[in-house]
Amino acid sequence: MSEPEPLQELETIAEASASGIAQAGSTEALEQQRVHWLGRKSRLMEMMKLIPQLAPEERGLFGKRANEIKRAIESQLADRRVAVGGVSQAAAYDRTLPGQSFSQGSVHPLTQTQDRILEIFTAMGFEVADGPEMEYEYYNFDGLNIPADHPSRESFDTFFVDLPSPEPKKGKLLLRSHTSPVQVRVMESRKPPVRIVVPGRVYRRDALDPGHSFMFHQVEGLLVDDKTSFADLKGILNLFLRSLFGPDTQTRFRPHFFPFTEPSAEIDIASTLGSDGGSSFARKRWVEIMGCGVVHPNVLRKVGYDPNKVQGFAFGMGVERIAMLRNGVKDIRAFFENDLRFLEQFQGGK
Ligand code: DAH
Repeated sequence: MSEPEPLQELETIAEASASGIAQAGSTEALEQQRVHWLGRKSRLMEMMKLIPQLAPEERGLFGKRANEIKRAIESQLADRRVAVGGVSQAAAYDRTLPGQSFSQGSVHPLTQTQDRILEIFTAMGFEVADGPEMEYEYYNFDGLNIPADHPSRESFDTFFVDLPSPEPKKGKLLLRSHTSPVQVRVMESRKPPVRIVVPGRVYRRDALDPGHSFMFHQVEGLLVDDKTSFADLKGILNLFLRSLFGPDTQTRFRPHFFPFTEPSAEIDIASTLGSDGGSSFARKRWVEIMGCGVVHPNVLRKVGYDPNKVQGFAFGMGVERIAMLRNGVKDIRAFFENDLRFLEQFQGGK
């Protein structure tokens, strides 16, 4: 006699177990039935162990049916246990009871905000790029028109890395203090037009307080083309901020200085945080949200672009600050403490 087909054997088990269980008249008899049909040495369990050895086309069907039968046996055992009086209805398998919930992970609130920012820009045709967190002095400073003796180097209180530089011509190694160096890297590696957004971690020697952290996240943007103007920059960034914070968001472009842009501006939005904010940052009505400007001709020249032929604009923003405003979070440190009571509040958000 040949071996029965595995699927056919499953059906035999399904039928035999149903009638065996229905005939069991005591708790003890039911326990014997359980061991016989579902125990470690039962035929069903043996067959299930062999699933990985089946041909791929048989595996799915067989596995599905075997699991169905296993569950059917479990539920018949539970029903029969109630019938023979071994357990009260409540303690038995009661399928009307709500299931047991288990905790589920969620996307970190900073990642949610970063994803949302990138989503708005990619919808406008920007491409996502990235660059290294450990950077050469050249890309962090010189390539961005910040020469060694420039006072604005001090405003980026930089962590230098105590390793010999593999390319001494590009200066020392450091932890990048902004995402702007990726502008230079991308422009060096391709011809215009360029339209990128760059998310990433940045580092500064700042003391921890409700508004500062020595590591935080930025999203950088750069657009270079043959016809761009400050009006395009304002249009795109207003559209971005209204997509992110809502159509009624008030913005204000305030003249500012950045070495890598000319003219430059900082953009403020009217704060949505109440006056009960614990930090001075949270109490301000206008909150600085990003820096921007028209790419400085020196920056274009250094990467071999001709400033008479192409122009561009750039912008950079802090993800933590935006996430704080969007979610009413008043202390930046909350993002890094990994307290589940904090993180669980962001389940399912974006
Ligand atoms: N890199 C600047 C900072 O970290 C932010 C910034 C300002 C980036 C203006 C830009 C820009 O691209 O155009 O403070």
